[in-house]
Amino acid sequence: FCRWSSKVFQRHCSRMKMRVSDALASKETGTNVRIQGWVRSVRPQKDNLFLNVNDGSSLQPLQVVAGSHLNTRDLTFGCAVDITGTLEKSPSKKQNVELQAQRIEVVGECNPVDFPFKIKERHSLEYVRQFPHLRCRTNAFSSLLRIRSEASAAIQSFFRDNSYLQIHTPVITSNDCEGAGELFQVKPAGDKNDSDDPNPHFFSVPAYLTVSGQLHLEVMAGAFSAVYTFGPTFRAENSQSRRHLAEFYMVEAEIAFTESLDDLMKDQVDLMLKRKFNIISYTEAIDILKSSSQNFTFSTEWGCDLQTEHEKFLVKHCGNVPVFVINYPYELKPFYARDNQDQPKHTAAAVDLLVPEVGELCGGSLREERLELLSQRLAHAGLKDTYEWYLQLREFGSVPHGGFGMGFERYLLCILGLHNIKDVIPFARFSHSCLL
Ligand code: 4AD
Repeated sequence: FCRWSSKVFQRHCSRMKMRVSDALASKETGTNVRIQGWVRSVRPQKDNLFLNVNDGSSLQPLQVVAGSHLNTRDLTFGCAVDITGTLEKSPSKKQNVELQAQRIEVVGECNPVDFPFKIKERHSLEYVRQFPHLRCRTNAFSSLLRIRSEASAAIQSFFRDNSYLQIHTPVITSNDCEGAGELFQVKPAGDKNDSDDPNPHFFSVPAYLTVSGQLHLEVMAGAFSAVYTFGPTFRAENSQSRRHLAEFYMVEAEIAFTESLDDLMKDQVDLMLKRKFNIISYTEAIDILKSSSQNFTFSTEWGCDLQTEHEKFLVKHCGNVPVFVINYPYELKPFYARDNQDQPKHTAAAVDLLVPEVGELCGGSLREERLELLSQRLAHAGLKDTYEWYLQLREFGSVPHGGFGMGFERYLLCILGLHNIKDVIPFARFSHSCLL
C-alpha cells in the first residue's frame, strides 16, 4: 500500500511526458522529455534523419532529430512513435526548439504502400472524404476541425456574453416543428410487432429525431426571455446536394419581447455579420426574378418557394452580399409564423438570410403569440390536439417573441469559402451514406 500526494502522483505519472504544444513553447533547453505522437514527415539527410512529429495538440509539429546511432528503419509517414530526448535550441527560424532523440520506439507501424495519404502529396478534399476514419490525419481536414471547434466556442461565448441561457433541447421529440414531413422515426431496433400490445409505441406516441429545437425554446423563452440551443438536428431530406446533410448542427435562438423582424435581424447580424447586407421583401424578390432575363427551371410566381437557383440570382442581383428576405407568403411558412394580416398578398413575418455561394444560412420568424389566430391555424391544419400545450403558452402570459435557426455547417462553408458541406463535419450523414 502506497500513499501518494496528488501532486507527487501526477509528477510520477507524467515524468518527462510532454505534449507537442508544450514542448514547442518550452523556453528551457537541455530538458529531458518524452513525446508521443504520429510522424508527419520524414527527411533523411547526410548524418541525421529529420522527423516532424505531432500529437494533435498544436498546428505546428515538433522537429525531431534522429542521429545515425538510432534504428530508424520502421519510421514511415503516419506511424505512431514514442520518443525520449533532449529539447535543444533549434537552428531553424521555424521553431524555437527541436528534440534531439535518444530513443525512438515505433508504437504502431504504418505501411506507406497501403496508407491512403502519401507524404508530400496534396490530396483533394474529395479524395480524403473517402476515408472518414482517417481524414482527420491530414493537415487540411484537421485544420478544418480546429476551426470548427473555435467557431463553436465563439458562438457559445457570444450567447453567454449577451445573457442568453443555453437550453439542451431534446433530440427525441414527438413534434414535427417544421411540418415538412422530413422526420426520422425513432423506435427500438428489431420491432417486436406484438399484435396483442394495445400501444406498440415505445414512448406511447410516435417519436422522431428533432428537426428543430424551436418549440422547446419557445417554452423556455416564456421563463428566461433569451435562450439558445446548439445541437444535432435531423432531416430525412433525400438530397445529395452539396449543402444538405441528414444530420447537421443548428444554432437556434428564441427571444421574448421581440416585436419586429428588424429586432430579429439585428440579433442575427450581431451573431454573424459584421459587413454589408441587404433587406428585400419576398414580393420584391419575386419582382426581381420575374423581370430578369434568366430562364429559371422552377416557378417564379408569387407564392412559390424560393429555390437554390432563385437564391443565387437574388444574392448576385443584390451586390453579392448577404440578403435578408422578409415577409413570405403565409401558406409557405409553418403554423407558428406570425400572421401579418395583410391583404390581398397574405404574408407571415418570416425572414430567411441568403448568403453568397451557400444560399440559405438562417431561417427565422416572429411567432404567432395571439391565442385566437394560432388556435384557428392549428385547427385548420388538424393539429389542435397535438399542440394543446403550445396553445397554453399563449394562454398564460403570452408575449410577442421570435427566433431563428442557423445551420452551423453552412456557416462554416461561408466563413471558410468551401464548397461542400460534407467537408466541414467530422462524420457526414446524408442519403445513402452513413459510414462508420
Ligand atoms: O429554415 P429552417 O428549416 O428553420 C427552422 O428549422 C426554424 N425552426 C429555426 C428557428 O426559427 N428556430 O432551418 C434553419 C437553418 C437553415 O437556414 C439552414 O442553414 C440549416 O438550418 N439547414 C440545414 N443545414 C444542413 N443540412 C440540412 N438538411 C439543413 N436543413 C436546414
